[in-house]
Amino acid sequence: MALLEAKGIRKVYRVGAEERAILEGVDLVLREGEIVALLGRSGGGKSTLLRILAGLIPADGGEVYLRGRRVEGPAEGVAMVFQSFALFPWLTVLENVALGLEARGVPKGEREGRARQTIALIGLKGFEEALPKELSGGMRQRVGLARALAVEPEVLFMDEPFSALDPLTAEGLRGDFLDLWQGRQFSTRGVLMVTHNIEEAVALADRALILRGSPARIGWELPIPLPHPRDPADPRFRAQVEAIYEALTEREEIERRLEEELVRLPQASVASLIGLAEAIARLGGRADLPLLAEEESLEVDDLFPLLEALELLGFARVAGGDVELIPFSIVSFFHDGC
Ligand SMILES: Nc1ncnc2c1ncn2[C@@H]1O[C@H](COP(=O)(O)OP(=O)(O)OP(=O)(O)O)[C@@H](O)[C@H]1O
Ligand SMILES: [Mg+2]
Repeated sequence: MALLEAKGIRKVYRVGAEERAILEGVDLVLREGEIVALLGRSGGGKSTLLRILAGLIPADGGEVYLRGRRVEGPAEGVAMVFQSFALFPWLTVLENVALGLEARGVPKGEREGRARQTIALIGLKGFEEALPKELSGGMRQRVGLARALAVEPEVLFMDEPFSALDPLTAEGLRGDFLDLWQGRQFSTRGVLMVTHNIEEAVALADRALILRGSPARIGWELPIPLPHPRDPADPRFRAQVEAIYEALTEREEIERRLEEELVRLPQASVASLIGLAEAIARLGGRADLPLLAEEESLEVDDLFPLLEALELLGFARVAGGDVELIPFSIVSFFHDGC
């Protein structure tokens, strides 16, 4: 049976008199024993979807079921880890972790023991009495993780849990998380994780889902059947990364948006557009997207708006996980009298 199932989720945000549909007809299943990565463009509705699935905000249509029980309001059996840690600065590590237990009505006597156990599990033994400000970013996110795990959730939602950490710290925490998960050291039976880091999705997930369109729905699904430990240098790993890049930059998507919406140029400075075009030129006029991101030290969230702007301006074309400069585009740009 599905651990978590969403059917036909619709969400509309109202800003003043204006209504904007963010999600439409989102169907998704999280099965027992799975880590699923959720990807999509920035502002596409990933966090909104996660909050709806966790019962933190209501949907405007559709249903969510947790082990067959309808989710209406904050769901028992689920917990969320946020990108920004979301710790209370005036509470100690122990108090921050115990807070979630208190909210779930765990008796006082039981709370401290369970909080201490989870803190030790997540590698923070000895820091129980520390305040968040005395901890590094990586340690703070461990507290965020401990707070979520302490309530022994069946389903764990993580919204870009590693993105505020430096790459090395993120890798350490990812590795520890995976070890605990594989060793079944906590009760969670399924994880749904939002990430904009494609390598992270391939390193951790059993399946990747991509939110597409506006309003968004699940537009694409990719199984990631690689055995652990996964080696980022393994050609099979690279092929999965490549496939996700390809899906995220699919031609139809940008063409559809051009037809259906008034497309605004993404936020991109002329200098960074020129910088990227030059980098592509240096790579021979055509570049593999994962390679380009690495060469230019760009996160996907920085790279994609630049690529989109280059495409919309007619300077480049993205296809098959590669970007290619369009020859003489600048010449024709002036010829056409623009
Ligand atoms: N409470 C709200 N009221 C109105 N609009 C909102 C609200 N929350 C989010 N939005 C809008 O809904 C859209 C989707 O937001 P959401 O945070 O779900 O996207 P996201 O995919 O998580 O983006 P990111 O990758 O940047 O985190 C955005 O355009 C956002 O501005
Ligand atoms: Mg988000």
